[in-house]
Amino acid sequence: MKISQLNRPSRRDFLVGIGSLAGASLLPLAGCAKSDRLRVGFMLPYTGTYAQLGVAIENGFRLALDGTGDKLAGREIDFYTVDDESNPAKATENANKLMTRDNVDVVVGTVHSGVAMGMIKVARETGTLVLIPNAGANAATGALCAPNIFRTSFSNWQPTHPLGKVMVDNGHKKAVFITWKYGAGEEALASFAEGYSAAGGTVVRELFVPFPNVEFQALLTEIASIKPDAVACFFAGGGAVKFVKDYAAAGLKDGIPLYGSGFLTEGVLAAQGDAAEGIQTTLHYANSLDNAQNRAFRSVYRQAYESEADVYAMQGYDTALLLKQALEKTGGDIADRGAVIAAMEGAVIDSPRGRWTMSKAHNPVQDFYLRRVENGDNKVVGVAWKALEDPARGCTM
Ligand code: PHB
Repeated sequence: MKISQLNRPSRRDFLVGIGSLAGASLLPLAGCAKSDRLRVGFMLPYTGTYAQLGVAIENGFRLALDGTGDKLAGREIDFYTVDDESNPAKATENANKLMTRDNVDVVVGTVHSGVAMGMIKVARETGTLVLIPNAGANAATGALCAPNIFRTSFSNWQPTHPLGKVMVDNGHKKAVFITWKYGAGEEALASFAEGYSAAGGTVVRELFVPFPNVEFQALLTEIASIKPDAVACFFAGGGAVKFVKDYAAAGLKDGIPLYGSGFLTEGVLAAQGDAAEGIQTTLHYANSLDNAQNRAFRSVYRQAYESEADVYAMQGYDTALLLKQALEKTGGDIADRGAVIAAMEGAVIDSPRGRWTMSKAHNPVQDFYLRRVENGDNKVVGVAWKALEDPARGCTM
């Protein structure tokens, strides 16, 4: 059975979810016949350390569809799915499967920054509309920005940018940064270092683990000998579970506070258990955000999938909201490229994360929250940075 079928919420779940959530409406099909189905491709990891992230994104996307089945703005949808395995070496081939072989109207992908770089290259050649529901590769909405490439999540520059000031405010002026050695981790570190030094902090050591390895022991021993004021990091998915548990097991948790971008504690708190208590992170979402959209989204997600929504599910959901908003403006016509792009550029999304808008470079302008793990939940401490916009370095759009 295809994973997309596994994830599909039941018809009953759709009906429960509709109306309260996305203001779904069935518009007349101006200019496109009923048989003219929308071709949506998912390029996501369904295996490997980010598998859980890919599944949550697809689940969230499907939750925002119209209440009468697989429809967006009245258009019936055919889905095409590729497991990209978070493997950059296969990115070009996988992107071509959807963009060339299946000739999809829009690709929803992906999670891993290295895979996104390959996918973007193909999208710039084919002109296929791409909506990035996670991967933070700065270039996607920076040096490689393009009219047909949009992101609904974050740039890698964003989540760690507010973290340095938070740590200095907490009295931690010397920090070690540890991460997987690939685009997302390196960009998270660069942005952290920028914000941290501006606030008066110093990164005393940078430590790297090859992606997706989870052998942390030697580096944890090194951290113990360096004795920094605090540690900041980027890990996510299965690797984040292992890192947080190993950090506590190595006896570092009480003496050297652990910080990170919020991916460290997203969708994995149950697996991390007590080891995660007290970790502080910055992210554009928290389960406990108290707004009507978030309450409704979480409740419908729970009914549909019998699990808790996380940032990845929310990003998938918002990706569908963006597409829906644009298609409702064009009467369901995705072929009117200029109109679809203009609608997305002007989008205002009333999201479970709070309201966000699209930057000129096609990346969300959004609030970042400071969260602290308390009793197995990411409690919102406050807004760490209001309406943070990625600098979009190198984008001339
Ligand atoms: C990325 O590779 O861009 C990435 C992956 C997982 C995350 C965040 C960023 O949670």
